[in-house]
Amino acid sequence: MIKMRDGSLDNSLKKIIDEESFKRIERHGRDILDSKEFKRSLGQVHHHKTTVGLHSIRTAMIGLWIIDRLKKSGIKVDERKVVRITLLHDLGMLGRKKRYKNDFECGYMHPRNSADTARKIWKDIDIVSIKAIKSHMWPLSLNVPTSKEAFVLCLADKLASYKDITFKGEEALKGEQIRL
Ligand SMILES: [Fe+2]
Ligand SMILES: [Fe+2]
Repeated sequence: MIKMRDGSLDNSLKKIIDEESFKRIERHGRDILDSKEFKRSLGQVHHHKTTVGLHSIRTAMIGLWIIDRLKKSGIKVDERKVVRITLLHDLGMLGRKKRYKNDFECGYMHPRNSADTARKIWKDIDIVSIKAIKSHMWPLSLNVPTSKEAFVLCLADKLASYKDITFKGEEALKGEQIRL
């Protein structure tokens, strides 16, 4: 379970984390959560009020919420794939201040960089997942999602970003404050 270092569930974290969804995220993506890149992502502020890591966990939770609804309509989406690509989709922007000249370059380049980082963590990642990560900025980029999983990532990322920006919590939670 995701908790604060002292074992508590801080109020800001409670607003973000749903325990049942987090269990599903752990089941499919424990190795990603344990990677040095993901741990680092919990220390990089993102969307002012969160971190790349917490944004990615929130994207995964919203992704699960979307696929549960699609399932009720008879549309099956690969749950494991959705969890893994949502956790990985922004890891390419680690160290963004040194890596990119400006926000525009970051927005344009980070999906490709995230695909490269994903290959390092998930050695036998399939082409559908790589393409999904590369297309997650659509329609802000011209790289169009071409699978159900890619559409779910794209939508979940937009909803998570909206929630991040409108989040009424305390300061961004940093990696050293959190135990995954
Ligand atoms: Fe992104
Ligand atoms: Fe994102």
